[in-house]
Amino acid sequence: MKVAVVGATGLVGTEMLTVLAARNFPVTELIPVASERSKGKEIEFKGKKYKVVTPSEAIALKPDVALFSAGGDTSKEFAPKFAEAGITVIDNSSAWRMDPTKKLVVPEVNGDVLSVDDKIIANPNCSTIQMVVALKPLHDKYKIKRVVVSTYQSVTGTGVKAVNQLMDERAGKDGEKAYPYPIDLNVIPHIDVFQENGYTKEEMKMILETNKIMRDDSIKVTATTVRIPVMGGHSESLNIEFENDFDVNDVRAALAAQSGCIVVDDPASLQYPMPKDAHGKDEVFVGRIRRDESQPNTLNMWVVADNLRKGAATNAVQVAELLAAKGLI
Ligand SMILES: NC(=O)c1ccc[n+]([C@@H]2O[C@H](COP(=O)([O-])OP(=O)(O)OC[C@H]3O[C@@H](n4cnc5c(N)ncnc54)[C@H](OP(=O)(O)O)[C@@H]3O)[C@@H](O)[C@H]2O)c1
Repeated sequence: MKVAVVGATGLVGTEMLTVLAARNFPVTELIPVASERSKGKEIEFKGKKYKVVTPSEAIALKPDVALFSAGGDTSKEFAPKFAEAGITVIDNSSAWRMDPTKKLVVPEVNGDVLSVDDKIIANPNCSTIQMVVALKPLHDKYKIKRVVVSTYQSVTGTGVKAVNQLMDERAGKDGEKAYPYPIDLNVIPHIDVFQENGYTKEEMKMILETNKIMRDDSIKVTATTVRIPVMGGHSESLNIEFENDFDVNDVRAALAAQSGCIVVDDPASLQYPMPKDAHGKDEVFVGRIRRDESQPNTLNMWVVADNLRKGAATNAVQVAELLAAKGLI
């Protein structure tokens, strides 16, 4: 299959190349795509070198599928052009996620929604993906009424510039800034732009995307999203109120049975998920599973995943795998 990776020089794009190779996606030809700035730059994939081209040049090369991670503006401009040329687009930006005509897909949760008509498919927000993988089996079993989520998000979620800011600060060097404040030795309770209601856009993404992916607007979600000086992945504290009561061991078993989810939960031996362990892995890790003793039918848990993997590249490649398995690309 001819595969274009749009944003191939970025953090997510680089991870996509790693994931395509690691999962043995049947790539016969790779088309790495980036901006004019990177045109002609060489990218290595499975021992072969490929030259970076611009999005317009990539369309002319007619890939079967294009994995986009080059920001919302690039997606808005080019995804429809790729689609018109018959190329299926899987897009990592927020450009199409809430468009009612586009599917927003996490294969383990709602992969069944994909059809032959879907030419632009949206990959959800990284924090939302890891949360819904863990929520799905519990919603099926106990019906979720409300989720209160607080995130502890890696700087890799903001791209190359943010990683450089953290590294520069740690080395005592001046450099480009991705954040309005120092990130090293700090915590910034602000991800993406503020909205009129006082929430950030990242928080609203978690709320709205969860309802769309779970196909259930009755699930109430409230979120506080926070950037921390960490690299390996995003962590989330979830407080979940169910309609029905549960047994904590049954909750663990349901999570362990969920595809793409690994339970790491043994306080006696200090086993709980951490971003340094999730780094470079495709799964979502869940631990600190315990009853919220302050109100009925309510659970606390801690969810960690590599935001560049399951939160972005892995999920996009899994969508491509699913399309291929259904004969849709
Ligand atoms: N980081 C995450 O955890 C994460 C998770 C989910 C989704 N996303 C989304 O994925 C996208 C990329 O994120 P990132 O973290 O990889 O950012 P990044 O490291 O800053 O990389 C951005 C990429 O986009 C390319 N690009 C920029 N403008 C372009 C244009 N006009 N035409 C073609 N290519 C262009 C860049 O190419 P040059 O090298 O030529 O500039 C680079 O390859 C964003 O939409 C982001 O919201 C990120």
